[in-house]
Amino acid sequence: MERFRNDFFIGAATAAHQVEGNNKNSDSWALEHTVYGGYQEPSLGACDHYHRFEEDICLMAEAGLNVYRFSIEWARVEPQEGIFEEKEVEHYRKVIDCCRRYGLEPIVTLHHFTSPVWLIQKGGWEAESTVHYFARYARYITERLGKELHYICTINEANMGIQIRSIAQEFLNQMVADGKIQMGISLETLMEGNEEKSEENRKIFGTPVPQIFQSPRTDAGDKIIIKAHRAAKEEIKKLYPKMKVGLTLSLHDIQSEPGGEMRAEEEWEKEFRHYLPDILEDDFLGVQNYSRSRYGSEGNLPVPEGAEQTQMGYEYYPEGIGHVLRKVSAEYKGELIVTENGIATADDKKRIAFIQKATEEIRKCIEDGIPVKGYIYWSLLDNFEWQKGYGMTFGLIAVDRLNGQTRMPKDSLYFLGTLRERNVTD
Ligand code: BGC
Repeated sequence: MERFRNDFFIGAATAAHQVEGNNKNSDSWALEHTVYGGYQEPSLGACDHYHRFEEDICLMAEAGLNVYRFSIEWARVEPQEGIFEEKEVEHYRKVIDCCRRYGLEPIVTLHHFTSPVWLIQKGGWEAESTVHYFARYARYITERLGKELHYICTINEANMGIQIRSIAQEFLNQMVADGKIQMGISLETLMEGNEEKSEENRKIFGTPVPQIFQSPRTDAGDKIIIKAHRAAKEEIKKLYPKMKVGLTLSLHDIQSEPGGEMRAEEEWEKEFRHYLPDILEDDFLGVQNYSRSRYGSEGNLPVPEGAEQTQMGYEYYPEGIGHVLRKVSAEYKGELIVTENGIATADDKKRIAFIQKATEEIRKCIEDGIPVKGYIYWSLLDNFEWQKGYGMTFGLIAVDRLNGQTRMPKDSLYFLGTLRERNVTD
């Protein structure tokens, strides 16, 4: 088997809310405890990664991984507007130190879907003031942790709200929409506009329709997200000009059948191209792909009959990541990092086959001169898949959450570690 060079990033990703447990000040936590929020179950203690990060990092290192992408929970660091918790920053400093001790490069994401409740009360991701609040939080973190970092990813899947808007529109158009969005969201409840739900929202957020990050986004809100990214980047660069700063995008491998060419182009424009002017100068772009999505003359097509599907209802399509990297690299010339790619399956052999195929495609991209710096699998642990709860198993490590949070590494973890050449000193 051909291997990636030793300095190629091979690793795994998590997001704070999905693994840490007890992120009690976030919008997601609040919604998980409502009756009409659409959550299958609440995250509660999650995988207790907050206390067990060392065990998890050690498992990655033993397997041969050299990068760990994780996120900082804004709602922990700034639980109330303007009140910052130093001790939470110290927690993340320990996580970073631990990565270094075990020889992993930490890639820190500042915002991975969840926001403090107070931010949403102030208008959330449709409010201009969020740009200022996010930049202030980015500055606070960078002042304290910047010295220990080389990579900061400002916002995870900056385009998620736009994708959710598209899919919600299709849902309204009576299309079969399940499995079309690259995150665990329940479209039925997204579209429910009942009184009870509005009342619950009003109590928590002071508005019947809170603008959380995963709400269907308006064009104005989309601009606010990009402005927040740029403002945060500016703050980071003022303090550490050499820091590599970028964001990540959720990118389907958009394909067209005869008659669907225009729709496919429009979707690519919405999902990727219109962001280009604002991200061209970034130090890297995080590319996140899970499957393909096809367009015909009537719009978005269902998964082809007989095609294998993952637990999420996505078509099993590991070659998607290679296609997306090629398309992106035609227009974005900077460094690319696959910051997420993975499969929700109970069959670990299938996961290994998925990783093998996906990384073969990436190797071919590199041979063709595309500057791909790393492959980061989603996810390190079987974790909290948002509205879909704990049933979706993306992880390289299973977690027995009900029996002492025992970690059970899967063969795929060790397989991933073999993909990179190892030095004797590693
Ligand atoms: C998100 C993750 C999520 C994963 C799988 C990505 O969109 O960044 O938080 O768990 O997809 O659905």
